[in-house]
Amino acid sequence: MKLGVLCSGGDSPGMNAAIRGAVLRAVDVHGFEMIGFMDGWRGFHEGDWIPLDRSAVRGLSPLGGVILGTSRVPPFAGGRGEDIDLTAFRARFAEYGLDGFLLIGGNGTQTVSSLLTDAGIPAIGLPKTIDNDLGGTDYTFGFDTAVSIAAEAIDRLRTTGESHRRCMVLEVMGRDAGWIALHAGMAGGAQVMLLPEYPESLAQVCDWVTSVRDRGRSSLVVVAEGFRLDGAEQAVTRDGLDGFGRPRLGGVAEVLAPLIEAGTGIETRATVLGHVQRGGSPTAFDRVLATRTGMAAADAALAGTWGTMAALRGDQVEMVPFGDAVDRLKTVPADRYAAVRLNFG
Ligand code: F6P
Repeated sequence: MKLGVLCSGGDSPGMNAAIRGAVLRAVDVHGFEMIGFMDGWRGFHEGDWIPLDRSAVRGLSPLGGVILGTSRVPPFAGGRGEDIDLTAFRARFAEYGLDGFLLIGGNGTQTVSSLLTDAGIPAIGLPKTIDNDLGGTDYTFGFDTAVSIAAEAIDRLRTTGESHRRCMVLEVMGRDAGWIALHAGMAGGAQVMLLPEYPESLAQVCDWVTSVRDRGRSSLVVVAEGFRLDGAEQAVTRDGLDGFGRPRLGGVAEVLAPLIEAGTGIETRATVLGHVQRGGSPTAFDRVLATRTGMAAADAALAGTWGTMAALRGDQVEMVPFGDAVDRLKTVPADRYAAVRLNFG
């Protein structure tokens, strides 16, 4: 059997470990041939690939980024569904002599995996995103690393904030989900966590910050990039389109900080953590999850369980149908937010 692996979407710490896990199992144990396409679908379209064997993946587990590169180049021309012409795609697939794909990606990639499998082109999904917003799986690799980096940033901001009696606002990633803000905020003991799923009013945010000051402390506010103040209080801060043609997020901390300062009289500073959250070596948790994901995907190819995604369910990595993940954004549930909100301020 010959498998083609590629990465699509933003990178996520653990992608290299996932490739290594898949190769160790598929090539070494099952005797498959494996190739890796460079820069996602670009490599597939342009015939840019490398052979993947044990020596190609040596030492990859702790390495950040991804050796194959990743991109948001689309797999085929046209939109979703019936508009898509798969003729050229099928010809390429046959030319490479492939029996199936292992596709490492987030929401969009799992949608493509599902579409390919429905069209008779076998695919297995390996879910990754620092945002942890993919349905069907408890955690995606990359999330734990992003949370650890954001928690460390909170620890650092706290000491300088306390020294100057300032309110510190830290903006973290997560797109439309507040998972990174929630977990990093809990780990770092933030006094306020602002999530996209749960708008709050400026007056409420200022009340929390003031009550922290009244206790003689300085506030640490974690805000997810997708958060918007309740009502029309916050100017639109979006600054163009991202690689998907969606409005680019970010910049919310820089809008919020002066509003908090004006509303409380407390000197306030904003920090945007940005891509630091995606860079560098994955945590041990992400390395293990990614390796298990790669191995499970290789085993699923052997078993012919195409059309599935390697998902973490409890402490087991299981193959689940793409339908469980695709187009189902996993957001922070109301009870999780309510539980932390009780202690804000
Ligand atoms: O989806 C992962 C993510 O890091 C989001 O948290 C963030 O909004 C986005 O990607 C940033 O994308 P880019 O790297 O294209 O700026």
